[in-house]
Amino acid sequence: MTDAVSLIRAKRDGQRLADDDIRWLFEAYARHEVADEQMSALLMAIYFRGLDRAELRTWTAAMIASGDRLDLSSVGRPTVDKHSTGGVGDKVSLILAPLVAACGAAVPQLSGRGLGHTGGTLDKLESIPGFRSALTPDETLAVLASAGCVICAAGSGLAPADRRLYALRDVTGTVESIPLIASSIMSKKIAEGTSALVLDVKVGSGAFMTSYERARELAETMVALGEEHGVRTRALLTRMDVPLGRAVGNAVEVEESVQALQGHGPGDLMEVTLALARQMLALAGLAGDTAGDPAAAIADGRALAAYRAMVRAQGGDPDAPLPEAAYIQVLPAPASGWLTGLDALKVGIAAWRLGAGRARKEDDVSASAGIICLAKPGEVVRAGQPLLELRADEPERFGPALAALEGAIAVSDQGPPPALSPVISEVGPA
Ligand code: URA
Repeated sequence: MTDAVSLIRAKRDGQRLADDDIRWLFEAYARHEVADEQMSALLMAIYFRGLDRAELRTWTAAMIASGDRLDLSSVGRPTVDKHSTGGVGDKVSLILAPLVAACGAAVPQLSGRGLGHTGGTLDKLESIPGFRSALTPDETLAVLASAGCVICAAGSGLAPADRRLYALRDVTGTVESIPLIASSIMSKKIAEGTSALVLDVKVGSGAFMTSYERARELAETMVALGEEHGVRTRALLTRMDVPLGRAVGNAVEVEESVQALQGHGPGDLMEVTLALARQMLALAGLAGDTAGDPAAAIADGRALAAYRAMVRAQGGDPDAPLPEAAYIQVLPAPASGWLTGLDALKVGIAAWRLGAGRARKEDDVSASAGIICLAKPGEVVRAGQPLLELRADEPERFGPALAALEGAIAVSDQGPPPALSPVISEVGPA
């Protein structure tokens, strides 16, 4: 028999937590016999002392066991999902889920909403008139069976312990801990029931992880956790110093995703999307399949057809006009030369201040607010040429957004910036 204070002291002093103690902790926490302040103290001890691999495996298993685990065995196709740690202009899921479905896999994508400067996939899709992201488990399975992919809210039954822990971490300065982030993300993805998972771990100014070393450690930790729980897992590290693609916001990102599915996506967005699609298809065992070439599935319209089927199955009208902003303001290039920098974090904060993101979980987002990057680093610009198009529902949003963009743009007459691939490296099981 243990107690919360002993576990807090043990972790504080650098000792390991035994498997039985971790399981007891989560069961007692669910019964409200461990108080939030005790769990908060333990989270802070973990922030400083970490969890070793065996502790983390048991910790994650206990989070999964706190709720339901979806059974996707009736789907009849290999299941594979993707998770991104979040970035600016990251609309990859909207393109990738139907693309991989068109190549023969089933993609059960249970997503979250945006908080802070990175957008949320559900917020983007909800700008489509009629689109519903709150589905029951039966509806989720029905959409998956009919369209091959579903993008909906992770219901409250999946890893409920994570919701409580995340709320504590948010207010106690304990979000930025690799074992706590890894267990939070992976418990939800493992509970969702997918057989395979590809992680897009973003690195750079607009990402959760700004250093390559920390991003790689997070990727390795999550890959190991997935594999230990029977989910074939790989990760790609991808750059997030510049917004991905040209659109940042909700409706504007849906529009760019549809263009990408029509074969007109910007180079960086397509490079990341196709690299993730190939990884997902390899994990699903479909890479050598004749239907399994993602570039061909875009070229022949199958990916777009899967997207339209998914939107319809979730109550949306893929042909309905998307909401448009009432006000537009343009930010011109400050000088002539090569555009060498367009800071993802500053653009993300500006789009958020325009109304595309939320400050608190309960806030609404604007469907039409956002930013269009009319030029991207590597292109030549002339002084005064429109560089960013800012869109908002209320004109008073522009001042704070423009203030966030202070110093976001770099122009040089010394030549173009180095042309770096947005995909940095791949992480597999150790
Ligand atoms: N996303 C999550 O789901 N959990 C974290 O801890 C961080 C990002």
